[in-house]
Amino acid sequence: MRNPSMLTPIVSIFCLFFLLYQITLVASSTPPLYVPIDDITLDCGSATSGKSMDLNGRDWTGDFQSKYFPKELDNLKSKISNATGERIITKAPYSTARISYSQFTYVFPVTVGPKFVRLHFNSVIYPGFEGSKALFTVIAGSFTLLRNFTLVPDDSLQEKPFFKEFCINVGKDKKLNLTFIPFSTTFHAFINGIEIVSMPDDLYYRGKSEEGIPNLSGSPFYINDDMALEMVYRLNVGGILIRQTDDTGLFREWSTDDSYFMGGSQMTNDQSMVLHYTKVPNYTAPDDVYRYARTMGFNRNKNRLSNLTWELPVDMGFYYLVRLHFCEIDPNMNLVGQRRFIIYIDYLFAEMDADVILWTDEIGTPIYRDYLAMIEKKGVEDNSHILSIDLHPVTSVSHDDAILNGLEVFKLSNTDGNLAKHGAEIIDLHQPTTMMSKTKKFIAIGIGTGFLVLLFLMGCMVFWKVKKSKRYVSYYPPSRCWCLCWLRLNPYKGKQTGKKTSSLRKEQCHHFSLADIKIATNNFHEDLIIGKGGFGNVYKGQIDDEETMTVAIKRLNPGSRQGAHEFQTEIEMLSQLRYVHLVSLIGYCNEKGEMILVYDYMANGTLREHLYDTNNDALPWKKRLDICIGAARGLDYLHRGVKHTIIHRDVKTTNILLDDRWVAKVSDFGLSKMDQNNTAVSTMVKGTWGYLDPEYARCQKLSDKSDVYSFGVVLLEVLCARKALNQKLEEEEWNLAHWARKCIERGTINEIIDPYLKGKIAPVCFKVFMQIAESCTRDQGIQRPKMGDVVEKLKLALELQENADAEKESINPSGEHIYLDTLSFCIDVTNDGLWATNAHKEHGMTSDSTGIGTGLTCSSFEMDSITSHKTFS
Ligand SMILES: *[C@@H]1O[C@H](CO)[C@@H](O)[C@H](O)[C@H]1NC(C)=O
Ligand SMILES: *[C@@H]1O[C@H](CO)[C@@H](O)[C@H](O)[C@H]1NC(C)=O
Ligand SMILES: *[C@@H]1O[C@H](CO)[C@@H](O)[C@H](O)[C@H]1NC(C)=O
Ligand SMILES: *[C@@H]1O[C@H](CO)[C@@H](O)[C@H](O)[C@H]1NC(C)=O
Ligand SMILES: *[C@@H]1O[C@H](CO)[C@@H](O)[C@H](O)[C@H]1NC(C)=O
Ligand SMILES: *[C@@H]1O[C@H](CO)[C@@H](O)[C@H](O)[C@H]1NC(C)=O
Repeated sequence: MRNPSMLTPIVSIFCLFFLLYQITLVASSTPPLYVPIDDITLDCGSATSGKSMDLNGRDWTGDFQSKYFPKELDNLKSKISNATGERIITKAPYSTARISYSQFTYVFPVTVGPKFVRLHFNSVIYPGFEGSKALFTVIAGSFTLLRNFTLVPDDSLQEKPFFKEFCINVGKDKKLNLTFIPFSTTFHAFINGIEIVSMPDDLYYRGKSEEGIPNLSGSPFYINDDMALEMVYRLNVGGILIRQTDDTGLFREWSTDDSYFMGGSQMTNDQSMVLHYTKVPNYTAPDDVYRYARTMGFNRNKNRLSNLTWELPVDMGFYYLVRLHFCEIDPNMNLVGQRRFIIYIDYLFAEMDADVILWTDEIGTPIYRDYLAMIEKKGVEDNSHILSIDLHPVTSVSHDDAILNGLEVFKLSNTDGNLAKHGAEIIDLHQPTTMMSKTKKFIAIGIGTGFLVLLFLMGCMVFWKVKKSKRYVSYYPPSRCWCLCWLRLNPYKGKQTGKKTSSLRKEQCHHFSLADIKIATNNFHEDLIIGKGGFGNVYKGQIDDEETMTVAIKRLNPGSRQGAHEFQTEIEMLSQLRYVHLVSLIGYCNEKGEMILVYDYMANGTLREHLYDTNNDALPWKKRLDICIGAARGLDYLHRGVKHTIIHRDVKTTNILLDDRWVAKVSDFGLSKMDQNNTAVSTMVKGTWGYLDPEYARCQKLSDKSDVYSFGVVLLEVLCARKALNQKLEEEEWNLAHWARKCIERGTINEIIDPYLKGKIAPVCFKVFMQIAESCTRDQGIQRPKMGDVVEKLKLALELQENADAEKESINPSGEHIYLDTLSFCIDVTNDGLWATNAHKEHGMTSDSTGIGTGLTCSSFEMDSITSHKTFS
């Protein structure tokens, strides 16, 4: 029932990884391909004359002293205000607004040519305007950009900043004026930030001198200078979010297409592909737009019967420019005629026989195609329409497939210069589609690289400080790695969901939407994989709660689990288990066949990573003891702390994780067996070789003592810094537990301990530690201690070590404490009986009923028959 390979731990990584990540970031930050002449970022309502940085590391200048905000007439009636609300955004341009009951105007004396105009809004409550509503029109020269635009501040939804992007051509001797007009004196207009960025003349505009855009139902069409455009969609199809600062210099943001894609595709990418910009200018779109794509996959029969489909809600009564970006990235598709497809836009033929190689001659060559779609208004009531883009394969010799890499959709101003739809234009923050499209723009991550390095150093300093000064206190510690926090400083990100108002940590178990998970993992981006196993991948992700939280996201392979119902039951059980020494399940996602678990992120990875086969520093002895005590407590909690005993079944050093403060946490107990009747459970033998309770293997009788055995092996592993099972060694040394027992018998146990620990363990401590390890790894469960006893004994061992160290210290305060006595240990027979009596008392059972007798009778069990269920670690 349980797939053992699922037990592969949430492997985590270290600051080094992030250094490397940073290095790649630095390496990839090349100078922009286009440098705009006009590049204005105006932080409206900000009195600061200096610059303030936004989330992407761009500088914004306050409008108060600005030449773009003339101090005349109506303008002086407008006020500046700070955003308020549950989450105050401290980053430009969203923390302040210019807000007014009367109209106000910005004047931008810019160069001739087309410009991007981006209007940034943060719809929250502004002091002094609480009671009134925002309802206003925005005019740019002769264009109406927004009409009866309304944003209802709703605190329960939290702030969702977004921007609207327009393209406006500025003529000779003209200024770009932006006027904000409230509907009446009881309504207000406001704006948080304005961006004006020049664009290349030929980027979206197309004069008569150029090739027209095919009118899907007639003659070619030109986008003249006297038109304004509103960007409605800009998607990196099959790809990742590309933030404004990662564009080609034009500060466009490219969202993922997940919310609009109708399923059934294969996402492909070639992140290292070198692109040849021979067909289109190299500023057309960032490389990552062309390096990622969606295709249909290999099933020709299925492909023939389906389309790659995107559905985009649009306003009716406008023309739309639809730009499709293509680039063949599959090296096997380098011939004309291999991948041919029909393009339908709004159910009309846009292209009868699209063939990217035919257009571009070779792979890795970006190209785009523009189409015009007329979305006519049919009735007075009709306002919204779904613009559908369908790609359907044309049967060819070798493949039936289609491809799309990027998609942009612009609304074109109509003849009266209007871009706004009729009637009130309400941004409904509740509506999922608009919500996605608006908020996705704010998943912007990271900051300028120089700043990153600085933050990295600062983060590490904080990290070390915290590590040094604080011991672990609360039950639900923020187990983020401090070093990571800055990586995605992003107060907006969590708002995608719009419903996560309460703290995730206070919640029992949060249900995440798949969209949340995709955002958190950058659409399951490979770079974020921190662990792989037969069960699927583990990703590091960022979830926004009250603050950004780093989490480990385990995505189960569809085949690896039984089904949604069992998944759900398990989550219910897991979410009840909250203990400092257990890795907490924060939430889960169960959507579209995906089964995903979200856990606390463990910054210091697994215990094994700090013992052997590693570049990490060796752990000091006392720290090892501390970790063992923590893990033992976690297991004790599983055994006794909950209503029914929970048997972990796979205790091993890779399932003991360490958080940023080195607190040990047992993981992967999720798939453990609940022992309903407190008796030995008969079940198929599962576990990991080397840790497997021999009695359980023989008799298939599972009890909490099976965990004790495995934990004993962990103790030996911690002491000897070697694998539980190492077949590279002499045969008699393969199994650590068996080998240690032999060494104890021979009196050579001191020879197999971790060389690093030589001279560092106080002999009194060693004796107690070995007592525990030896008793835990006894053949018969009844002879092993209970986890609670183990905890107590380990605490004693630590205390003895501390006392011995203190004594050494008092004799020689400055020197290293070296224990020269040879460590020795022999089996203490009297103690033997003690464990056994304890076990008897607690269970009130006789030895026969707890397995001594059966242990002997079934010792002839054939090992072969059970090997198939076990994993080798
Ligand atoms: C806005 O916040 C800034 C900084 O906290 C403060 O100096 C300023 O007075 C505030 N402005 C208003 C209008 O409250
Ligand atoms: C823009 O505003 C300035 C100052 O108010 C005015 O002189 C100019 O005529 C306006 N230009 C346009 C195109 O509206
Ligand atoms: C596109 O063609 C149709 C049909 O010929 C025509 O009615 C329409 O005006 C054309 N649109 C444009 C923008 O040229
Ligand atoms: C981008 O294209 C321009 C014009 O063709 C060229 O001068 C420039 O070197 C290109 N930049 C890169 C990085 O390829
Ligand atoms: C593909 O989409 C087009 C346009 O929407 C539609 O006419 C066609 O029936 C679709 N084909 C399939 C196989 O779904
Ligand atoms: C703007 O909204 C008001 C109030 O809802 C309405 O009376 C008016 O007709 C609207 N104007 C336009 C042009 O849609």
